[in-house]
Amino acid sequence: MANDIRITDVSKSFSNGDEVIDVLDHVSLDVEAGEFVCIVGPSGCGKTTLLKLIAGFDTAYEGECLVGGQRHSSPSPDRGFVFQKPALFPWYSVWDNITLGPRAAGKATAQWKAEAARLMSVMTLDGFETSFPYQLSGGMAQRVQLARVLINQPSALLMDEPFGALDYLTRLRMQQLVSSLHVDYSMTTVFITHDVDEAVLMADRVVVMSTRPGRVLADIRIELPKRRSVDVVRSAQYGEYKTQILSLLGFGEPEMEH
Ligand SMILES: Nc1ncnc2c1ncn2[C@@H]1O[C@H](COP(=O)(O)OP(=O)(O)OP(=O)(O)O)[C@@H](O)[C@H]1O
Ligand SMILES: [Mg+2]
Repeated sequence: MANDIRITDVSKSFSNGDEVIDVLDHVSLDVEAGEFVCIVGPSGCGKTTLLKLIAGFDTAYEGECLVGGQRHSSPSPDRGFVFQKPALFPWYSVWDNITLGPRAAGKATAQWKAEAARLMSVMTLDGFETSFPYQLSGGMAQRVQLARVLINQPSALLMDEPFGALDYLTRLRMQQLVSSLHVDYSMTTVFITHDVDEAVLMADRVVVMSTRPGRVLADIRIELPKRRSVDVVRSAQYGEYKTQILSLLGFGEPEMEH
């Protein structure tokens, strides 16, 4: 398929002066077209580094990282990247931030205006067209960032802890929004999170990484219905997935003292 992701035997090191830091160690991971994969792993294990390779920000690595069968050497609107902190232009209005992609591509207004208006509404941003980023809440700013990425109709969506800075309720709403957008847009999605609940709630598969240098410790298919509601957290299956992932991250049951 055009938008599958194939990561094969990828290793990556950074050198800081004399010191070489091994960050990714023979990582292999396939994401099928339209699949939603969450990556969880300890801080510093190379999650962002891996996502940047997929996006095409960084080409200095060993192994192979293909999106849609191609090795990319630069980022593209077709591989939408959502950062943890909303990367908005402070001097542009909400509307101008959202429509940046098609305007920069020189598309005629008629080609994107209706879609931009629809996305404003999907993101419940109606009435904020002329507001500037400093006038938005964290959740609103993150929805502007998401709309700015979605207007380009990316075939892959790469999200790096996008809700890490949001409060619990806003986070739940954003999770539901992204889950349904993922189904509607049929994007291949890689979503990085520290939050095991978020991973089990959203993913088709959860990939657990080791401490640095990051390796794939486990790749767990989440056999829960699509478009999960928060009720799913009460199911036994949900609890089992969560326990399994936490245990892989080193938070297993404490050993009994003898
Ligand atoms: N450009 C860089 N130059 C040198 N070292 C880097 C660079 N980018 C990342 N690193 C190092 O690579 C390691 C992995 O970083 P990365 O940002 O991928 O971790 P992460 O898993 O995303 O962590 P977190 O969960 O805290 O975001 C870290 O030790 C970091 O210091
Ligand atoms: Mg990171």
